[in-house]
Amino acid sequence: MKNIVVTGKDGQLGSEFQALAAHFPEMNFHFSDYKELDITNVDAVFGYFEEVQPDLVINCAAYTAVDKAEEDADKAEAVNATGVKHLVEGCEKFGSRLIHISTDYVFDGSKNVPYTEEDAVQPLGMYGETKRAGELAVLDSKIQALVLRTSWVYSSSGNNFVKTMLRLGAEREALGVVYDQAGSPTYARDLAVAILEIAQKEEKWPDTTALYHFSNEGAISWFDFAVAIMEEGGLSCKVNPILSAEYPTPTARPHYSVLDKGAVKKDFGIEIPYWRVSLKECITKLIK
Ligand SMILES: NC(=O)c1ccc[n+]([C@@H]2O[C@H](COP(=O)([O-])OP(=O)(O)OC[C@H]3O[C@@H](n4cnc5c(N)ncnc54)[C@H](OP(=O)(O)O)[C@@H]3O)[C@@H](O)[C@H]2O)c1
Repeated sequence: MKNIVVTGKDGQLGSEFQALAAHFPEMNFHFSDYKELDITNVDAVFGYFEEVQPDLVINCAAYTAVDKAEEDADKAEAVNATGVKHLVEGCEKFGSRLIHISTDYVFDGSKNVPYTEEDAVQPLGMYGETKRAGELAVLDSKIQALVLRTSWVYSSSGNNFVKTMLRLGAEREALGVVYDQAGSPTYARDLAVAILEIAQKEEKWPDTTALYHFSNEGAISWFDFAVAIMEEGGLSCKVNPILSAEYPTPTARPHYSVLDKGAVKKDFGIEIPYWRVSLKECITKLIK
């Protein structure tokens, strides 16, 4: 029986692991959020690892408020960079493997073909900067670890674009959504399933660290995503395409952040669902 620590258990991704745990009886999950394990506290990390003796740590804990991170940079740094460093140190000491989640927001979006793991990063804001620092804390270490970058995460729990669109779509007759930012949605359930599949294929792991990209299949704009959400949700709200300049945010978003998933599919033999199929599954669950 493998001891698996999941940090950030109450977030979108962490919640999916809790929902899936019963299907993986061979895995002994230890779920924690910052009340049980604040990853910014190095003593708490070492104490928790001492008690649990993890074989694998899946880090779902993160500071994810992209705009707020500009004025709250210390907190974003503490969770997304220093906290990850603490986990790496814990893994070093206790011989644990690590799967750490990162983001498409490490890119500036200047490409117009999918980003590979070899592409240069250039974050546009503090969130992306601190997430990049977290990536490096893992990738520069000597532990056995994978960094999985993902994008546009949504789920049936937590706050996300899908739930916001369903709420606004029920309240309004029309709304404007940007069509000059392209990417790929990721259903947190699909990401959690892929992570558990990857975790079990230990023989395919490199001896040290590696970086991979993961999202659902397909590439769309937020506008396309909103239109599909209204359709799947049975809502008549009209979605109008607008430019990012018409919807300014404190932090700029990459105009293009589609991730190339060729490496993770090839190295781990996983299949990734098409975004629209997963969206339908999530909305069906929400409506039930
Ligand atoms: N959401 C997206 O669109 C998106 C896109 C690309 C990549 N990602 C990455 O995917 C991963 C999962 O994202 P998500 O959407 O599941 O995030 P989320 O819903 O915001 O969940 C993150 C969880 O971490 C917890 N947390 C914060 N500080 C902590 C600390 N010091 N110690 C322990 N736990 C702490 C949060 O608790 P509180 O809520 O109480 O603060 C929350 O439960 C993250 O690494 C994120 O950067 C997300």
